Amino acid sequence: MEKKIILGIESSCDETAAAIVVDGRNVLSNVIASQIDTHKKFGGVVPEVASRMHIEAVDGVVKAALKEADLTLEDVDAIGVTYGPGLVGALLVGLQYAKGLSLGSKKPLIPVNHIQGHICANFIEHKDLEPPFVSLVVSGGHTFIVYVKDYDKFEVIGQTRDDAAGEAYDKVARALGLGYPGGPKIDKLAKEGNENAIEFPKAKFHEQTLDFSFSGVKSAVLNYLNKAKMQNIEVNKADVAASFQKAIVDVLSDNVFLTCKMEKVNKIAIAGGVASNSCLRERLITEGEKRGIKILFPSPILCTDNAAMIASAAYFNYDKKLEGNLDINAKPNLKLVEG
Ligand code: KG4
Ligand code: ZN
Repeated sequence: MEKKIILGIESSCDETAAAIVVDGRNVLSNVIASQIDTHKKFGGVVPEVASRMHIEAVDGVVKAALKEADLTLEDVDAIGVTYGPGLVGALLVGLQYAKGLSLGSKKPLIPVNHIQGHICANFIEHKDLEPPFVSLVVSGGHTFIVYVKDYDKFEVIGQTRDDAAGEAYDKVARALGLGYPGGPKIDKLAKEGNENAIEFPKAKFHEQTLDFSFSGVKSAVLNYLNKAKMQNIEVNKADVAASFQKAIVDVLSDNVFLTCKMEKVNKIAIAGGVASNSCLRERLITEGEKRGIKILFPSPILCTDNAAMIASAAYFNYDKKLEGNLDINAKPNLKLVEG
């Protein structure tokens, strides 16, 4: 396929983003308007506020992405846009905008699954990465172990049955009074704590599965904090953060390495906001070295929500002729593998 320039648009949660990416791997621009400062006041994302802020930002962000890449819409080969999963009102803003652009410019519209986008961040960071590999997608809304068989072929090996990993981080951080988003704050505080100070329970399933459950760990931390408060005992927040983080990282690490063994794969590409977590990175690298498994991470700006990853996924979908049309609707509960 000759060189393809894709405009990516992302608005599934609290970042309005647009990017220009060539051939799925070379980023010409990556513009992100974050709403985090607004949502911080509420301790989490407020969906209606998010939708309104996307409406205000989307046009400017797309124009800025084109300008930064020194291109016009004419130069673009296709428009990739996130259509799920995410907040429905937020998704609709990017999707409707992309449909309008596509109709006006007669450029193909490529619908992109946000989870696929997170995985594709690794193709941008690691220019020679090719499937097959195992991906651990850990974000505020999702926790998946995915066997990436090809650029457009995925098998979900494990997933959370309740809270996402990032969600557990955010809730525990809130209980510790650290603010939103909690992941980076726990990451930092945990460095001053003892990860073996408190034994928080890990989810155990009776059946053989690589699924996760994080609500048990989260509840155990909340109970620990409540009990201490009732007994007027001062807690060591750093110890709580470190011990909680260890419980999460233990399970993520165990399950992802078991997947590699099962699928006979020696590459793990981490994705999503929690992929920035320093404890998770260190653990996977150490364990990976012991097992001869290569661990790949996108740089932090490509871990959290962005549109470069969406443009990359759109390129690979376009390559496989996975084009959409103007009937496409936002799908808040879109699965990585439908059916
Ligand atoms: O991928 P992302 O930007 O949004 C979703 O698609 O959900 O991920 C955001 C999540 C938040 O829960 C945030 O607390 C978490 O990623 N996060 C982290 C770190 N940086 C961001 N969690 C743990 N450690 C970090 N360093
Ligand atoms: Zn995301």
